[in-house]
Amino acid sequence: MRTETGGLAGTECEKLIGTALLARENSYSPYSHFRVGAALLCRDGTVWTGCNIENRAYGPTNCAERTAFFKAVSEGKRDFSAIAIVGGKEETVWCYPCGVCRQVMAEFCDPDEFQIICGKSVREYRIYTLRELLPNMF
Ligand code: THU
Repeated sequence: MRTETGGLAGTECEKLIGTALLARENSYSPYSHFRVGAALLCRDGTVWTGCNIENRAYGPTNCAERTAFFKAVSEGKRDFSAIAIVGGKEETVWCYPCGVCRQVMAEFCDPDEFQIICGKSVREYRIYTLRELLPNMF
């Protein structure tokens, strides 16, 4: 569902954040203890979840956002409308996607339409377009 201004309706945002919070339960983060969950909404209505997956060598760590994107793309999805992101050590804090994840979003998403929903809770969230978070992109 989209509002007249083109964004997701509040109830849809809340639902997507709720799904991201559930995905966060699977976070594998024994090194940073920073647990992140993401829920990626496709234009066809399907939702793909992801969590961060850390590694003892640190470098191979995958962020929650990229886990969700790679799951979806590997299953043939290419059209995305929004992603909800939640993260924090115990309590959730404002959690923004890292530069690498923003670049991955830029590969597949319309910068002026794709919505990045950073949620502190289902009721407290901030919405950005990809262009706002990645201006002058490559
Ligand atoms: N992380 C994410 O999964 N997404 C973000 O948006 C920020 C950072 C992860 C990577 C690492 O496992 C942990 O959070 C601390 O950086």
